Amino acid sequence: MDAKKMKPESIAAQALGWVDEATKAIAPPIHTATTYLRDVDNQYRSGRIYARDQNPTFDQAEAVLTALEGGHQTLLFASGMAAATAVFQALAPGDHVLAPKVMYWSLRNWLKNFATQWGLQIEFIDMDSPAAVKAAIQPGKTKMLWIETPANPLWTITDIAATCEIAHQAGALVAVDSTVGTPVLTQPLKLGADIVMHAATKYLNGHSDVIAGTLTARADSPYWQRIRSIRAQIGGVLGPFEAWLLTRGMRTLYPRVRTACVSAQRIAEYFENHPLVGEVMYPGLKSFAGHAVAAKQMQGGFGGMMSIRVKVGEAAAIATAANVQLWKRATSLGGVESLIEHRASVEGAGTPAPTDLLRLSVGIEDAGDLIADLESALKRAQL
Ligand SMILES: Cc1ncc(COP(=O)(O)O)c(C=O)c1O
Repeated sequence: MDAKKMKPESIAAQALGWVDEATKAIAPPIHTATTYLRDVDNQYRSGRIYARDQNPTFDQAEAVLTALEGGHQTLLFASGMAAATAVFQALAPGDHVLAPKVMYWSLRNWLKNFATQWGLQIEFIDMDSPAAVKAAIQPGKTKMLWIETPANPLWTITDIAATCEIAHQAGALVAVDSTVGTPVLTQPLKLGADIVMHAATKYLNGHSDVIAGTLTARADSPYWQRIRSIRAQIGGVLGPFEAWLLTRGMRTLYPRVRTACVSAQRIAEYFENHPLVGEVMYPGLKSFAGHAVAAKQMQGGFGGMMSIRVKVGEAAAIATAANVQLWKRATSLGGVESLIEHRASVEGAGTPAPTDLLRLSVGIEDAGDLIADLESALKRAQL
């Protein structure tokens, strides 16, 4: 069947229906070769010369994600950070960049500590406020807006379409970290974004056993070609086994994300008015500030990520994370197993996370088991 006619669930489940012509295998091989034979007449008609950025094991994961995001092309990187930093490395010294105050902390630190040293002018703003974006953007000078939505660790929602409109009028590009949204729920390129980035370490792979990153472009451009060159020349590429695992992980992306969404909604509603919980931050709750925008740009659910604020304070929050038995007390997100962490302890100085906040990554276990385990941990933390 023509991939263009397939629903995304079918594209993902069958990894585009690919079959190995030579063996008829329905799972792709892992290519370990680092180099490729030159033709007798000195040409390279296979199209491959050297595997740093030409490993055939990348092809399938890249093609599947391009189809799911509705983009022009995808590149795999060695990590989410390698993918995200390539977006900024492809800019020029002096370029002005708008980034959100609430965003993945490691990238925020890199922007503050490294990107500025390379001459980029980074301004952190309330990206969820179109008025703040309009006030900060400098037509002709601002070259890039970085959006993360929902954004770590408060799950702040940015209106992708509205922000892209403001950016494009000013001549700036927009890149979206859609790690938490996933292509199951949001397709930023269809809302006007120029680049979509994923920490594929999270939902795309989904099993907490691969570090990987991706960039997908809406269209070809000199800027996208610079990103391609950065990957080829700096060499922040994925190993073939990790690329293969990523393709395998994406086959179950839709059922995993949908299960996590249903469970997260149930958990958020259960704890919303719980006597031991001060606040539940989850885009699926009507009480959440970004709910209306999330409902507009997320289809079929609000994701598996939420945070709760433990009423008694920091010590009770840390004790709750220590007391869980089914949830795993670990950082990261987007795997089949549910994770819990005291986010301020991870991020340290400069974190927007209140000290009583626990970040929850809801996996695909039974939601009732997750609720019972968390409630019991909360109760024991009060003693
Ligand atoms: C939203 C988001 N973006 C980017 C990253 C970076 O990804 P990686 O850890 O694969 O470098 C992470 C990692 O936690 C993340 O949560």
